[in-house]
Amino acid sequence: MKVMVVENYKELSQKSAQMFYQSIINKRAINLGLATGGTPVGFYQELVKFLKGHDMTECIRTFNLDEYIGLSKGNPNSFYTFMNDHFYKPLNLSDDQTFIPNGKADDLEDESSQYETLIQSYGGIDLQLLGVGENGHIGFNEPGSHFEQRTHVVNLKPSTVQANARFFNSIKDVPKKAITMGIGTILDAKEIIVIANGEHKAEAIYQLVHGEKSRNWPITALKGHSNVTVILDEAAANKVK
Ligand code: F6R
Repeated sequence: MKVMVVENYKELSQKSAQMFYQSIINKRAINLGLATGGTPVGFYQELVKFLKGHDMTECIRTFNLDEYIGLSKGNPNSFYTFMNDHFYKPLNLSDDQTFIPNGKADDLEDESSQYETLIQSYGGIDLQLLGVGENGHIGFNEPGSHFEQRTHVVNLKPSTVQANARFFNSIKDVPKKAITMGIGTILDAKEIIVIANGEHKAEAIYQLVHGEKSRNWPITALKGHSNVTVILDEAAANKVK
C-alpha cells in the first residue's frame, strides 16, 4: 500500500484526478469504479478539466459504488444526480457508458445481482476510487460486513445516516437503506485509490495503515489488495505520521 500525504484538499483532488487521467490515457478502454459524497467533489472538478474536449472520454465506462434505495434518478439527493451534475453532464457521457444501481428497482435483490453481472460482463473494474466513512465503511459496507460480499442491499448505520444528513433538508429524509457493491466486488478492482481529508477520517485511516484486518473496520479489507494508493491531507494523516 502506498500512502501519500499532501498539503490540502486542493492538492488531494489534483493528485487523485491526475492519477485517473494518466490511467485513462494509458489504456484504450477503461472501466472506472466511482464514489460520491463530499470528498470526491474536487476530484471530479479536476478530472473534468483534464478530460474536457478529449475524444478519449468515449473509451471510459463508469460503475458507481452505491445508490440510496427509494430515491429516483431525478431526486436531487440521488447519487445518480450527483454523478450527472459532477461528471456525466460536464463530459457528455452517455447512458450506455455510465452505470449506477437503480434504487427504485421493484426487485432490489435482483437489481443487486444484475449490477454485479453487469460489472463482470464488461470485464471488471480497472481503477476504483474510494472515499471512507468515519466508521471505516467503504461503499456502504458498514462495520461487520463480510469481506467476500458482492453487490447487495444494506441497512445504513445511524451514524452514516447522521453523517449524510448534511446533504438533505432533514435527517428524516435520509434513506436508511442502499444498494452497494460488496467488499468482494471492490477488492476485484485491479487498482484502488482511496482519498480522505479532515481530522474526522484520521482514525479510519490509522486502522487501514496500522490496524489489523478486521470486520469492525471495513476499510482494513484493502490490506489484502496488492495495488492500493491512499492520498490524504495532513489532517486525515494525523495518526499515521
Ligand atoms: C459514496 C460512498 C461512501 C463515501 C463515504 C465518505 O459513494 O461510497 O463510502 O465515500 O461515506 O463520504 P464523504 O466523502 O461525504 O465523507
